[in-house]
Amino acid sequence: MISLIAAVGENLEIGKNNALIWHLSKDLKYFQEITLNHKVIMGYNTYLSIGHPLKNRDNIVIVDDKHKIKDKNIKVYDNIDELIKKEINNKEECFIIGGASMYKYFYTLCDRMYLTLIKASDKEADTYFPDYRKDNWQKKIIREDNEKGINFAFCLFERIEK
Ligand SMILES: NC(=O)c1ccc[n+]([C@@H]2O[C@H](COP(=O)([O-])OP(=O)(O)OC[C@H]3O[C@@H](n4cnc5c(N)ncnc54)[C@H](OP(=O)(O)O)[C@@H]3O)[C@@H](O)[C@H]2O)c1
Repeated sequence: MISLIAAVGENLEIGKNNALIWHLSKDLKYFQEITLNHKVIMGYNTYLSIGHPLKNRDNIVIVDDKHKIKDKNIKVYDNIDELIKKEINNKEECFIIGGASMYKYFYTLCDRMYLTLIKASDKEADTYFPDYRKDNWQKKIIREDNEKGINFAFCLFERIEK
C-alpha cells in the first residue's frame, strides 16, 4: 500500500532551493509518528536535503547512479519499476516522502495521502505537489494546529476510486 506524506502550501508549494519552505516542529513530529517503523521512499534530492537516513525506518532512495550513495543503511534503486516490484506490497503501508518528482510519479498509484495543509501562500517556491484538488478524494481533518503564527491542518485523504 502506497501513501504520500507532504506539507503543502495553499499554492501546492512544497520546496525551495532543495529545502522545505516551512520548518514546523509539530509537523516534523507528526511526520515522525506516522512514518515510524515503515519504509520511507524518497528521490535523491530529498535524500540530500535531509542529509542522513531517518532513524527507525527503512530508507529507500531512487537515483540515476547508485554509486552516488555510499551509506550502507540506505537501500538504493536506479529503476523505479524494480523498486515498486521489490518494495511495495499490499500488506504494509510504505511512504513516499518526496520530493516533487516522486509525488508526481506516485500520485496516481497511491491509496492515501497524509497532507499537512499549511494555511499560507506568501513564501517563494520552486517545487510543487500535484494538483490533488481536481480529483476525487475523501478528506478527513485529523487535527488543526498552529506554530510560529502559521495555521495548518493535518489531513488524511483516501482515494475514493482508482
Ligand atoms: N513539503 C514537503 O513535504 C517536502 C517533502 C520532501 C521534499 N520536499 C522538497 O522537494 C524538493 C525536492 O524535490 P525534487 O523533485 O527536486 O527532488 P526529488 O524528487 O527528491 O529527487 C529527484 C531526483 O531523484 C532521482 N530520481 C527521481 N526519479 C527517478 C527515476 N525514475 N529513476 C532514477 N532516478 C530518479 C533523480 O536523481 P539523480 O538525478 O541524481 O539521479 C532526480 O533528480 C526540495 O525542495 C525538498 O525540500 C518537500
